[in-house]
Amino acid sequence: MKKVKTLILIIVILFIAIQFVPVKRDNPPVVADMPDTEPVKAILQQSCYDCHSNATTWPWYSYIAPVSWLVSFDVHHGREYLNFSEWGSLNAKQIQYYKQNIWYEIDKNNMPLKPYLWLHPEARLTPAAKDTVKSWAIAADSSGVVQP
Ligand code: HEC
Repeated sequence: MKKVKTLILIIVILFIAIQFVPVKRDNPPVVADMPDTEPVKAILQQSCYDCHSNATTWPWYSYIAPVSWLVSFDVHHGREYLNFSEWGSLNAKQIQYYKQNIWYEIDKNNMPLKPYLWLHPEARLTPAAKDTVKSWAIAADSSGVVQP
């Protein structure tokens, strides 16, 4: 019994201690956001912007370690791959590359990431939303721009 109490005490102390590890929860300035005229913008805002833009909504659990470490990792990792807050500074070739990549990840149900969908069911793309993304991405294919 004493051992169990000691173990619980250690776990509680560890849990409190890890709360003091600094976690990066930044939202850098948005310089070149995807234009509102893009037909897919609202869909991407709803399903992707939390990890792929500088306009992340940091949820309450992003303040509690160790979950906060995972959230921070996903956001910073996600922004490295694709950041809609920098869309306006991409050239035509990059835009075509990203459009294809975006549709590929959505079509394969790789994105949004599964754990994110459990916590954000509203981010799941409806079949209609997927169609909208698909025609937007495929229009890019026929634009004749070569792939990087
Ligand atoms: C919970 C965070 C999160 C959400 C939400 C999210 N992504 Fe990602 N995304 C990531 C991370 C992390 C990576 C980089 C590592 C990887 O591929 O898993 C990534 C990578 C990508 C890549 C690059 C893949 C590659 O390998 O080159 C694309 C494209 C992408 N995401 C598109 C999307 C789209 C489109 C949405 C919305 C429908 C979305 N993501 C939603 C976290 C997220």
